[in-house]
Amino acid sequence: MLIAVCSLKGSPGATTLATALGAWWPGQENPIVVEADPAGGDLMARFRLPDTPGLVSLAAAARGRGAAASTLLAQHTQLLPGGLRVVVGPVGAEQARAALAVLASGLPSPLRQTADQPETTVIADCGRVDPDSPVFPIIRSADAMLLVARPHDDELAHVALKLQAAQQWSRRPCFVLVGDGYPTAEVSQALRIPVMGRVPRDNRGAAALCGQGTGRRGPDKSALGRAAAKIALNIHAHWRVPAGSNGTRAPHLRVAVPGEPVSSAALQPLGPQTGNGATS
Ligand SMILES: Nc1ncnc2c1ncn2[C@@H]1O[C@H](COP(=O)(O)OP(=O)(O)OP(=O)(O)O)[C@@H](O)[C@H]1O
Ligand SMILES: [Mg+2]
Repeated sequence: MLIAVCSLKGSPGATTLATALGAWWPGQENPIVVEADPAGGDLMARFRLPDTPGLVSLAAAARGRGAAASTLLAQHTQLLPGGLRVVVGPVGAEQARAALAVLASGLPSPLRQTADQPETTVIADCGRVDPDSPVFPIIRSADAMLLVARPHDDELAHVALKLQAAQQWSRRPCFVLVGDGYPTAEVSQALRIPVMGRVPRDNRGAAALCGQGTGRRGPDKSALGRAAAKIALNIHAHWRVPAGSNGTRAPHLRVAVPGEPVSSAALQPLGPQTGNGATS
């Protein structure tokens, strides 16, 4: 399963959410978080990691590999303190854009190919999304797009403007709201897009996910961790691909998460996987 985490405006916490989902992913699976932000990555600096392996070395290895790239992603990961596997993006936007252009040029991308392996989840932090983004083909090929937004008037006004287009970019667009503001149900109804969950403002929890502290904290310890764990469980329950399904998506389960409305549009079963992510 490939999940694209994106923002539409500002810095609402997309990288933090992608890291939190990976850190608290349910079950035994260790997902891979890929920092695929064309504006450059933050994890390298936050966790004081070397720049290699990472997105740039992945792109160099993927060049010309085409359909044989399904094992590459795992080879270009580093470990965060709690053991989460990450492909770190370069700090510079120019380098990040060049690497992403290579990775997205030959679909299916190494991200998609890896995500098509049984019991494998790839969470791509795609930064601020727009159709000119070099990561756009990867977003299009994702099983779901999580749009991270703060539910305030100024931010939602921009989100509302872009939303009609954004809904065409993914077969499963949905929101994850961050912090206080309009009630979840009101946002979902007004913008007609499902809300997969909401994470609170939690400075300590966010700091731990930025490398300040111990790395992975137990979901019972941080409000942000608990909320991310709930969202990850919800995604896992609805959209994961069961082993041996040959890329045919599981029928959805209607698991309701208390206080988190998820409309039926978000929960349709995925059709067989296609290269460009279009529903067949
Ligand atoms: N739920 C939260 N509560 C408190 N602080 C948060 C939360 N989420 C993120 N932050 C903080 O906000 C800042 C930006 O977060 P993050 O880097 O995740 O945003 P982003 O959307 O990826 O931004 P950018 O577009 O610049 O990459 C960081 O300092 C992070 O610690
Ligand atoms: Mg970011």
